[in-house]
Amino acid sequence: MPNSAIAAIAALPQPELKTVFDTDPDRLSKFVLAQGAIRFDWSKTHLTDAAMDEFLALADARGFAAQRDALFAGAAVNNTEGRAAEHPAERGEGNPESVARAKMLHSRMRGLIDAIEAGALGDVRHILHIGIGGSALGPKLIVDALDGDGVRYDVAIVSNVDGTALERAIEGFDPHATLIAVASKTFTTTETMLNAASAINWMVEAGVDDPYGRVIALTAAPDKAIEWGVDETRILPFSESVGGRYSLWSSIGFPAALALGWDAFESLLEGAAAMDRHFRLSPPAQNAPLIAAFVDQYYARVMGCQSRALFAYDERLALLPSYLQQLEMESNGKSVTRDGSPVEGPTAPITWGGVGTDAQHAVFQLLHQGTVLTPVEFIASIEPGHALDPAHHRALLVNCFAQGAALMQGRANDSDPARAYPGNRPSTTILLDDVTPETLGALLSFYEHRTFANAVLMGINPFDQFGVELGKEIARSIEADGPRGFDPSTMALIDLALGR
Ligand code: F6P
Repeated sequence: MPNSAIAAIAALPQPELKTVFDTDPDRLSKFVLAQGAIRFDWSKTHLTDAAMDEFLALADARGFAAQRDALFAGAAVNNTEGRAAEHPAERGEGNPESVARAKMLHSRMRGLIDAIEAGALGDVRHILHIGIGGSALGPKLIVDALDGDGVRYDVAIVSNVDGTALERAIEGFDPHATLIAVASKTFTTTETMLNAASAINWMVEAGVDDPYGRVIALTAAPDKAIEWGVDETRILPFSESVGGRYSLWSSIGFPAALALGWDAFESLLEGAAAMDRHFRLSPPAQNAPLIAAFVDQYYARVMGCQSRALFAYDERLALLPSYLQQLEMESNGKSVTRDGSPVEGPTAPITWGGVGTDAQHAVFQLLHQGTVLTPVEFIASIEPGHALDPAHHRALLVNCFAQGAALMQGRANDSDPARAYPGNRPSTTILLDDVTPETLGALLSFYEHRTFANAVLMGINPFDQFGVELGKEIARSIEADGPRGFDPSTMALIDLALGR
């Protein structure tokens, strides 16, 4: 059934987007769904009633409801690693024991934040958060999106092992007034440990009394953090069953909770929990993450689109594309199903994007007239993030909506093909009332569940990431034993740049 469902959808008549509203006057009400402060509009995609029915049958055949229940029950849905995926428990949704544990760990984090604010760690004006991948992208997005007027600390989030990143981050930071947050689920990641060691050296060289006393560890491996030199009282643990790219809600969110305030962090969790409940309780035909996954499956698997593009028409969400690149590509960029057999057909497309209106002046040419079909997602907020002339926000939104209409309608030009727009190019619009901790929490939770729903529809495990290991292993072996047995190109590069 599963792959024949894709074939059945491919065999359905495909609508011409510019006429979809003429042929189905109810289309807007059918393909727009409002959930809380977020409105999802899929009406400008090729999804039809008939395709919806086939996708709903596919979800059923894949055991969607049972797999979703298993996720929330804390079952070992990450079958290749024999682990649960309990990020919803961090928001208060899921297995009661895991929820209680997450609450207890959040109280511990709050206690430490209160102590820092009360001066227990001395003068703290700068937060240097060191982590990579899921241990950096979430906090970076949240802090960047929400750091309005109320932010009390300078926050720098450093991930790259390139020393330039750390050097730039600490420029202007007073080492005597800096708190280092070392964020690593495993507390073994090479980049993070090297950056953390260099940050300690920076403090030592500046004459800071007790540099390790200014380190907070955010990790699921507290023993490793203790071994490295962090006092147990400054370790904020989180559960092993929270995956790296799903860990923003745990103590990995520490810099956001400290810089934005506990209330904001709690609102972020509440917003995410509201979306969790929507995903868990809504029937499939009214379930936003599942419908979004149908659209993803339609373009990736039925139409063979190799990428999907998303553009945030809001500067506050500028980091959303890079956050989603990890979430979607590390989760669903797989070639085998849960039982290890080859997946039939393509899996996750490449996620890419940027901000509007900047992207309009750089990459939209290809979206409108290129030969590659790319489904586009627009994300915008009704309320602006600034107090300047409302003309700015009006222009931003007008442009956003104009792009969706242009992609859909196109414009014929028989006498001048270079000026013709084919149209019939799909887009989704996600419109938020505002970018607040609640809406951002709900939005990110929506993307997490959409990624999970895509995985269920393809029969794959979205919670492992073995594909990242081989390169790490080879790098470690070069460091340990020198370059041996590589191809001539790799040997020459190493010889030339590293002199070995
Ligand atoms: O190498 C990939 C990865 O394992 C990601 O999944 C993870 O978010 C990142 O590295 C960082 O890992 P850690 O939090 O253990 O340092």
